[in-house]
Amino acid sequence: MASTKSKTVYFCSNCGNEYSKWMGRCPACGEWNTMVEKEVVTGKRPAAVSVPGAGHKPMPLKEVSTTAEDRVSLGSAEVDRLLGGGIVKGSLVLMGGEPGIGKSTLSLQLPLGRPELKTLYVTGEESVKQVKMRADRLGGDASNCLIYSETDMTAILEEAEKVAPDLLIVDSVQTMYCPSVDSTAGSVSQIKEVAATLLRFAKGSGIPVILIGHITKEGTIAGPKILEHIVDVVLQFEGENRGAYRVLRSIKNRFGSTSELAVFEMTGKGLREVENPSEMLIPMHGEGLSGTAICAMLDGNRPFLFEVQALVSSAVYGTAQRSATGFDVRRLNMLLAVLERRAGFKLGQKDVFLNMAGGLRITDPACDLAVICAVLSSNFDYSIPADVCFAGEVGLSGEIRPVSQAARRAVEAARLGFKKIFVSSYTHFDTKPDGIEVVKVADIPALVRALFK
Ligand code: TYD
Ligand code: MG
Repeated sequence: MASTKSKTVYFCSNCGNEYSKWMGRCPACGEWNTMVEKEVVTGKRPAAVSVPGAGHKPMPLKEVSTTAEDRVSLGSAEVDRLLGGGIVKGSLVLMGGEPGIGKSTLSLQLPLGRPELKTLYVTGEESVKQVKMRADRLGGDASNCLIYSETDMTAILEEAEKVAPDLLIVDSVQTMYCPSVDSTAGSVSQIKEVAATLLRFAKGSGIPVILIGHITKEGTIAGPKILEHIVDVVLQFEGENRGAYRVLRSIKNRFGSTSELAVFEMTGKGLREVENPSEMLIPMHGEGLSGTAICAMLDGNRPFLFEVQALVSSAVYGTAQRSATGFDVRRLNMLLAVLERRAGFKLGQKDVFLNMAGGLRITDPACDLAVICAVLSSNFDYSIPADVCFAGEVGLSGEIRPVSQAARRAVEAARLGFKKIFVSSYTHFDTKPDGIEVVKVADIPALVRALFK
């Protein structure tokens, strides 16, 4: 056996990169003061992660057989859809999110709702009793769900091999440890090793594994990048802890599309799927409030509508404040600059606050138009009619640009009872959407004329 030695290495606690010497700033992610010192054992090389069915010789690509991946339904239509039609056998899925957002709840709810699957639920955070109490609260059929309170990966894999479940759930990566790695649970090297061990297990046994991971305040899964590289799928929980709504987003998927999202509502009996998110994201207050505009947006493949809220008020202190929840504040600043330079609205001395309904984080550029309209609506104290919605990107010269799949957005808006949708003049529709008036605007002055006339 190779002799073992130990050496000191430095990990960046933000991105997980490893260096041989300490540095003030991580060259990989650019963060300051994130280096942590770690003693690692060398000479013992962990077995490499290999993919089953991997050819040992190069072979012509056209000869590789492409039978569809074997998928297992998890019983939740929304989670299945996020995964691309069920969890792929032998895959490792990371479910991340802030503490208290509902990771343990959802991962326990899945097997309780689908007793056909023999599930091994390993918890390193709660006692068996606590899990039982939660299961009672959630209801469902617990007859085929085994609970195992353990943090030692060797013992867990031994049991998992014996039990041979249809699904293995490990809650959470931060509490597990591999005895072969000489550092405490939750450290970067342990997290790396735990995930790699589970990946090896999943690939070798064909058992799908759901691994839960906490996210640090900065929104990164501790040792984030390393974990994202290792696992097959990353599902991330988002949402305000105060609010009842939770968004589960797929940010990486080796077996399906990303940027899909599912919305859940936290109830007294666990998480409830919200099949039609538009309904919760559109306000009930009807007309009469200024500072709100509805955006017809597309997330992944699904169009839905939600409310953008803005508050514009005179700056109390010398410099105006700009704050955005769920929207990139730099993009907000850019849009305000465009309003000022291209349309003559003086917002320099105004505080601007922006909020996306339901705690959603929006990246779809089609939201620009609704942001601008919400800001102008608040600034003029003019309420936009409740049956009007927007989908358009705003360029630096104040032009309104077309967005992808405008027709699908319009159809969804019409289905929800909207009467008018504002889009770019350059939008092309193959077929004119029924039941909704399409207002085409070329730039911000044209938009203002059409909307605030
Ligand atoms: P939890 O799932 O333990 O979060 P995580 O594993 O992500 O840390 O807890 C979610 C929160 O939801 C917790 O504060 C309690 C609450 N909750 C409900 O409101 N209803 C329920 O049925 C359950 C089980 C939890
Ligand atoms: Mg938990």
